[in-house]
Amino acid sequence: MKTDTLRQRGFMNQRPAETRYSGMTYRRCGRSGLLLPAISLGVWHNFGGMDRAENARAMMCRAFDLGITHFDLANNYGPPRGSAEETFGRILRGNLAGYRDELVISTKAGWRMWPGPYGDWGSRKYLIASLDQSLHRMGLDYVDIYYHHRPDPETPLEETLTALDHVVRQGKALYVGISSYSPEQTRQAAKIMRALGTPCLIHQPLYNLLNRRIEEGLLATLAEEGIGCISFCPLAQGVLTDKYLKGIPPESRASNPNGVLKPEHITENILSRIRKLNVLAHARNQTLAQMALAWVLRHPGMTSALIGVSRMEQIEENVAALQHLNFEPAELEAIDSALRE
Ligand SMILES: NC(=O)c1ccc[n+]([C@@H]2O[C@H](COP(=O)([O-])OP(=O)(O)OC[C@H]3O[C@@H](n4cnc5c(N)ncnc54)[C@H](OP(=O)(O)O)[C@@H]3O)[C@@H](O)[C@H]2O)c1
Repeated sequence: MKTDTLRQRGFMNQRPAETRYSGMTYRRCGRSGLLLPAISLGVWHNFGGMDRAENARAMMCRAFDLGITHFDLANNYGPPRGSAEETFGRILRGNLAGYRDELVISTKAGWRMWPGPYGDWGSRKYLIASLDQSLHRMGLDYVDIYYHHRPDPETPLEETLTALDHVVRQGKALYVGISSYSPEQTRQAAKIMRALGTPCLIHQPLYNLLNRRIEEGLLATLAEEGIGCISFCPLAQGVLTDKYLKGIPPESRASNPNGVLKPEHITENILSRIRKLNVLAHARNQTLAQMALAWVLRHPGMTSALIGVSRMEQIEENVAALQHLNFEPAELEAIDSALRE
């Protein structure tokens, strides 16, 4: 897009805040040289071609102003697929022009992206073509992290991981990661990547107060292998906030027909746990969203909590969670008990 058009559309009016590094905490990603902000921003929702571009721009800029240097994308984010990378590319060429070296940009491939047998899963054919498409959509020469988005039960792991190693050697990615791999798959991947000379930087699993599966082995595996961890959906897509306590608000994700969160997922069983957690959060002088993020970040091996947002104020509230991260043992016990009941 031409500079004039970007300016007319409001993409070039603001510059990043000088104070952007004063409030954020940065954590080392596994045994690597890379630091990530304790809170990172993902663009799965609200940055697609059907969303308000001006809101997307405002949220991205506010995030960077608050020290969020890591933005997480994927080939298929939208809708339509690919459009979140296009939106991000426009913001990068607008407000964030000149700041590329202050940003860690990730993208992924692994879910259905284009028709036919070469636009899904984990073949070398798919992963290499998809990264070229992502770079084109974002207007970048390289991404900082390229992920395999989900394990592929049919493709040999060696093929998938050799493709990741290849894009690093091509200079199209600086680091590579995996998402939603089991502990055993992660151990195998770590071994293969070490032998290739491109260590696995990071794992991106689902983790939040309502889904604790990674505590059963993955966190220990990542610590042993020196791999960082960035948890996706730390707010369970917004369920771990107070917004659904009085029904489904019209502008929420559960009311959006394009989302995967449906009103029927917010059951009375979940709501009864949310109500208890909400009381515990207030006792800490936090909102439930803030306590949920602090809880995810309580693990020493948790590099970052990867949030989504639909409006600027949510970023501000979520980043403020970093002001109170510690938990008393009694608080953790009360949380465990609220989740068990
Ligand atoms: N690797 C994978 O397979 C995978 C899968 C899923 C996601 N991800 C990544 O993880 C990122 C985050 O996922 P997510 O968006 O589901 O994360 P999330 O942080 O669990 O949920 C984000 C949603 O919660 C609501 N919210 C956020 N802050 C709030 C606050 N302070 N108060 C009230 N509501 C708040 C907003 O929804 P409303 O619209 O209701 O306001 C927001 O869109 C994605 O963008 C993507 O980068 C990766």
